[in-house]
Parts: sequence; C-alpha cells; structure tokens
Amino acid sequence: MTESRLATLPAVLLVTGTDTDVGKTVVTSAVVATARAAGRRVTAYKPTQTGVAPGEPGDMAEVERLTGVATVEGVRLRAPMAPRPAAALEGVGLPTLADHVARVADLGVRHDLVVVEGAGGLLVELTDAGETLADLATILEDSGVLVVSRSALGTLNHTMLTREALSHRGVRQLGIVIGAWPDHPDVIETTNRDYLGALPGGLVGAVPLGAPRLDPATFAADAPGWLPGLAQRLGTP
Ligand SMILES: Nc1ncnc2c1ncn2[C@@H]1O[C@H](COP(=O)(O)OP(=O)(O)O)[C@@H](O)[C@H]1O
Ligand SMILES: [Mg+2]
Repeated sequence: MTESRLATLPAVLLVTGTDTDVGKTVVTSAVVATARAAGRRVTAYKPTQTGVAPGEPGDMAEVERLTGVATVEGVRLRAPMAPRPAAALEGVGLPTLADHVARVADLGVRHDLVVVEGAGGLLVELTDAGETLADLATILEDSGVLVVSRSALGTLNHTMLTREALSHRGVRQLGIVIGAWPDHPDVIETTNRDYLGALPGGLVGAVPLGAPRLDPATFAADAPGWLPGLAQRLGTP
C-alpha cells in the first residue's frame, strides 16, 4: 500500500470485527462522528440486522442516537443469530450482494462516506449464496475495511486471523480499532496495544470504555480524538 493511498479514505468504509459484541456499532458511531466533524456528508448502512423485532431499535438506531446522523438498514430478522439461519427460521430470502452494492452506491450519490457495519465477524455469511462482508468489500470499488478488536487476552490471534483473511482476498485494510479501552489497562492489554500499534497499517485508534454511555454531544466532540489515525486522513480539525 502506497503512502498516497493511505493518505485518504475510500468512499466506503466497512467495519468488521474479530467477533460479535466487540464494539463494531460503537466504532461505526465514532467513525461517523469523526467524518462529520471533518465536514463530510456521512451515513451508515447495516446490510443485515438480526436479533430485532419490527420497530425495535437495532445497531443503526444506536448510531443515530450517538451521532444524530441518519442511517439505513438492509434486511432485519428477529432471531439473535447469524443472518442465514435467522432468515431460514423466518422462511425468507436474504438480499443479494448486488442488492447491497446497489444500496451502497445509491447512498454514495448524496454522501462523501458510507460506513457499512457487518454482522458478527468477517466471514459470517450475509447472503443466500454464502457471500460475506469480505466479498462485499472485494466487489465495492473504492472501499476499505476497518477491524475492531478486543483489548484482552486472545485478541492477537483473532486480529491476525482477520487481517490474514482480508489480505488473502486482496481487500484494502484501513487498520484496527480497539472497541473498548479501559482506564486502567493490565499488562496484557498494554502489550496487546503495543503489538497492534507496531503492525504495518495497524492501530488507528481505541474507543474508551464507557463511551456508549456518554451524552451524544460529548461522544461527537471526543470521537476524533479516539481515532487519530482516521481523523488525520479525514482532515478532522
Ligand atoms: N467502549 C465501550 N465501552 C463500554 N461498553 C461498550 C463499548 N463498546 C461497546 N460496548 C458495549 O458492548 C456491547 C457490544 O458492543 P457493540 O458495539 O454493539 O458490538 P458489535 O456491534 O460488535 O456487536 C454493547 O452493549 C455496547 O454498548
Ligand atoms: Mg453491532
């Protein structure tokens, strides 16, 4: 990856994680807030939202709550599980990869940056054909993937596996964000952060523990400081 490619962000930023519950939604919110602070027209898109009943708030509602930015959901399914089995339980089909590409392209008409939050980890199947967020990243021109990782023991293996899967598929990697960074890290967390920070194209930031409980104005004001590696590329003041 050349310096000039690193210097700017692509038009589509896909947020994946090393696992479910690692902080993808909170990081998506922080990216949206950072882009907004840089004056970008930004939105977020969740291709497959599982574990919600009609009318219940999903991940995009959380992004809207924390950032005030309007977002879009693809399909929503009730069962709190991976999209394919959740769709099978309801006897419905999932949108195709082409549906998601069209949706993102449509959002790209009126926005400078579209942030796409995956479901679970990178290789979770999002379509009936078994395609994943990695496939979506591969097919979307001018896109890149951000990996959200835990701070605790086990994160190095999970992070390196995700990075290897991305590089194997030729997907542009935008770096790593630690989803919840404690005020008083232990030695494992400190050495994990040092390790991830020393990787080429590695750590671009860390969201402090407790960030989702901040009031939205504070969240928006503080987010660029949590993601210096992105704020710099976005030209956030
Ligand atoms: N920095 C953080 N501090 C405190 N709680 C967090 C933080 N990041 C995430 N959480 C909480 O952990 C849970 C999972 O986070 P979420 O962003 O929804 O993960 P994912 O989108 O990867 O499933 C949520 O309840 C969320 O509020
Ligand atoms: Mg989420």
